[in-house]
Amino acid sequence: MVGHVDHGKTTLTQALTGKWTDTHSEELRRGISIKLGYADTALYKCSECEGTKAYGVKRYCRIHKRNRTRTRSVSFVDAPGHETLMAVMLSGAAIMDAAILLIAANEPCPQPQTREHLMALETMGLTKFVVVQNKIDVCSAERCHESYREIKQFLADSQLADAPVIPVSAHHNRNIDVLIEAIDTYLPSPDRRGQEAFQMNVARSFDINRPGTLPTKLIGGVLGGSLSRGTIRLGDEIEICPGRRKGKEYEPIHTTVASLHTGPYSRKQVRAGGLVAVGTQLDPASTKSDSLLGAVMGKIGTLPPVWDTLQLEIHLLKRVVGSKGGRQEVTEIKTSEPLMLTVGTRTTVGVVGKALSGTIEVRLKLSVCAAIGQRVAISRRVEGRWHLIGFGIIQE
Ligand code: GTP
Ligand code: MG
Repeated sequence: MVGHVDHGKTTLTQALTGKWTDTHSEELRRGISIKLGYADTALYKCSECEGTKAYGVKRYCRIHKRNRTRTRSVSFVDAPGHETLMAVMLSGAAIMDAAILLIAANEPCPQPQTREHLMALETMGLTKFVVVQNKIDVCSAERCHESYREIKQFLADSQLADAPVIPVSAHHNRNIDVLIEAIDTYLPSPDRRGQEAFQMNVARSFDINRPGTLPTKLIGGVLGGSLSRGTIRLGDEIEICPGRRKGKEYEPIHTTVASLHTGPYSRKQVRAGGLVAVGTQLDPASTKSDSLLGAVMGKIGTLPPVWDTLQLEIHLLKRVVGSKGGRQEVTEIKTSEPLMLTVGTRTTVGVVGKALSGTIEVRLKLSVCAAIGQRVAISRRVEGRWHLIGFGIIQE
């Protein structure tokens, strides 16, 4: 769920999942999302209802007084839209299979982060999209049509040119059934069958013990994210990279899967796709407050290399998007320039060591675990904050 600040992403996430994902005290105080929000839902279809009325997130069909059929489970990642939180949005994009770009009808389109999030989705290589036109309850019919034309015109030269645009009121739960049908039709689950070793980009990590828990009752550290491939089972041995810092080097962390949860359900095994919480036997102090965010977890011996310097083949955008003022041109990357890189769910600053045309070498402040050929989002500091300027592909 991506789009400009205050356009209604968290409200729509709640309409689809029943969960309000802004829970942090600072989010409640400021009324904006700051961290990534996570929520799961099941989509249902009534076999007797005609048209979009058949779709819902509730199992019971009130028209036919019977249970609907469950079509699939979907996990939502609710990204913050504030301009200073682009890095958070980018690391969220790393675990998305598809995106809903949400645009409020009561403001002219595009707003700066509508543009910047769109660019981020394309840059990170996503290909499946649904566009939502929200807040139609506060717009006249004329304004809704005008907003629709603005959206279509804005998306005309993008990969979202043919994506469906679904008008909704997230606040009043209007047209959510049509949106669910669109999700079911246009955002198919990727085919991840196969026997590959499991792997996950860690999107959050936490200590679930209440203060005062006796040492003998402590539950091990928990890692959250979405498996990009494979199947994980209770008792599996896992490796986490880059791992623990020892001087200048990193040492992989090894542990065992002690529990698996998807939403409120406890599982014996979990396949790739959808959010999962992996309980481990690690000291919970080592996973608290997202301390392992950005790490990669997988079957021992199968993880990609750890890098403190990256060689990147670069692909720059023409313009710096997302700034309120004019749209500056993206100039060549220079030696010694600081850049912000998003590698999977890891965000790190780096300094450009060598810059040749087409490739750069970046010395990273935090090491990353990433595969050769993987895409990396590149941001540069412009007008006092990080702006996306393109992407790089990791070279050997
Ligand atoms: P950030 O995460 O901070 O980028 O914001 P957001 O996109 O998650 O927006 P949020 O869901 O927090 O909603 C922002 C405001 O818009 C709130 O006051 C909502 O009540 C309001 N809002 C959301 N959807 C609708 C809608 O469909 N109609 C109306 N009238 N207001 C809405
Ligand atoms: Mg929000």
